[in-house]
Amino acid sequence: MAKKYRILVVDDEESITFLLKTELEELSDYDIDTALNGTEAINLIQSKIYDVVLLDIKMPRVSGIDVLKYLNEHSPSTQVIMLTNVVDMKTAIETIKLGAYDFVSKPYDPEQLQATVSRAIEKRKLVIEKEVMKNELNRIGGTAGLIGESAIFKHVVSNTKKVAASEAFILIQGASGTGKELIAHLIHNESPRKDQPLVAVNCASIPDQLLESELFGHEKGSFTNAYVTKQGLVEVANGGTLFLDEVGDISQPTQAKLLRFLETGEFRRVGGTASMKVDVRVVSATNKNLPQEVHAGRFREDLLYRLNVVSIQLPFLRERKEDIPLLVDYFLQRQSKSKAKKISPEAMAMLMKHDWPGNVRELEHVIEGGIILSQGEVVEPQDLWMNPALLSQSKGSSDNNGQNGLLSLEELEKIHIEKVLKYNQWNRVKTAHMLGITPKTLYLKIKRYHIKVGSSVESE
Ligand SMILES: Nc1ncnc2c1ncn2[C@@H]1O[C@H](COP(=O)(O)OP(=O)(O)OP(=O)(O)O)[C@@H](O)[C@H]1O
Ligand SMILES: [Mg+2]
Repeated sequence: MAKKYRILVVDDEESITFLLKTELEELSDYDIDTALNGTEAINLIQSKIYDVVLLDIKMPRVSGIDVLKYLNEHSPSTQVIMLTNVVDMKTAIETIKLGAYDFVSKPYDPEQLQATVSRAIEKRKLVIEKEVMKNELNRIGGTAGLIGESAIFKHVVSNTKKVAASEAFILIQGASGTGKELIAHLIHNESPRKDQPLVAVNCASIPDQLLESELFGHEKGSFTNAYVTKQGLVEVANGGTLFLDEVGDISQPTQAKLLRFLETGEFRRVGGTASMKVDVRVVSATNKNLPQEVHAGRFREDLLYRLNVVSIQLPFLRERKEDIPLLVDYFLQRQSKSKAKKISPEAMAMLMKHDWPGNVRELEHVIEGGIILSQGEVVEPQDLWMNPALLSQSKGSSDNNGQNGLLSLEELEKIHIEKVLKYNQWNRVKTAHMLGITPKTLYLKIKRYHIKVGSSVESE
């Protein structure tokens, strides 16, 4: 379904609103409302989001300038085209300074007007795109690259493409690092909404009080620090896809508000009174077992049903080990600066043996580390630092350290610290952070294990 652009025409002369509506509708597939005075316009703006407003300057009581100011505050992405008489030219220029997109003067040439409207729509898209970009959660990890040839993975991808085309809400389930975010992008890109925004919200990383205002926006002054009116992400996503990542982490009060929104498409900004409506397709993802969360009383059952019209379950990487070589090649290509490094058969064997609790993300990090740690053109087993258990296996067999070829925990710790230090180019602060210990503890361990530390770029 292509989105119909929403236009509002405001003029106190009914013949003009009628004419503009008819002419514009003839020229383009717009959804056009009309208002005969400023108050009526503001009422409509409170309940609907317009792409473009055509606004007469001179109207009794609430003037076009008042409506323009109201729009600036309450619907900043909406573009305003002022309708003027030739004599109003000076005022028209003033309105541009006040934030109007453009002005047209009577008599209107329908085609010219339509061209201005469609430029205003493009401008609004740019404004929205900027909002979407600001929403840093939207970084796409290596665009559409979804690697996997195993039957189980291909099945998931082909099912995803099928359901993407529908308007159904989709819940993506899978363990951490299995590719839920990539699948959400695939859904959007394969859907009829692909030219509209995809807005991602990471529900786990936003504190609960803020989540509601991120999602639904807030009115100026609704809480401390709410200096300006802010549009909610649901508005930014209007016409497109709203991706609720880590949806299992939403608090109960926000769950209730989300449910109301999903049922009606209506929401209210924090501190606002008017109810607004948008059209979004919701895709959500979680690594939690939501039925279990429902059972434990932490997640609303009715919300689960809403979100989960169709569900997609992503497999663990250990269930599709045949994809590991492909993924490794892909990451080697993508992450090598110049010529892609290769991987030795021994190192590959090690990767195939591993259980991958962190799934594809863990593999990606291991390869990234391997590229940095390997001296030559080939990534060898010793360049792969994975989970310590595996490290001990491989080290044990090749270096014959300790009893029975196994390492003691301390030896293991020493090796691991050295690797992480090297990985972080001897930056101790970063290393401590990665290891989850304080820089002081790291310092003590370096002393204790007599780790020879290379020179770091950091100043200590
Ligand atoms: N099939 C795949 N092909 C290529 N890269 C993949 C694939 N699956 C996952 N990745 C990569 O692995 C990393 C993790 O993927 P993603 O963020 O989509 O996982 P997730 O399921 O959302 O994880 P989490 O639950 O931790 O948020 C990303 O860098 C992604 O690019
Ligand atoms: Mg994710």
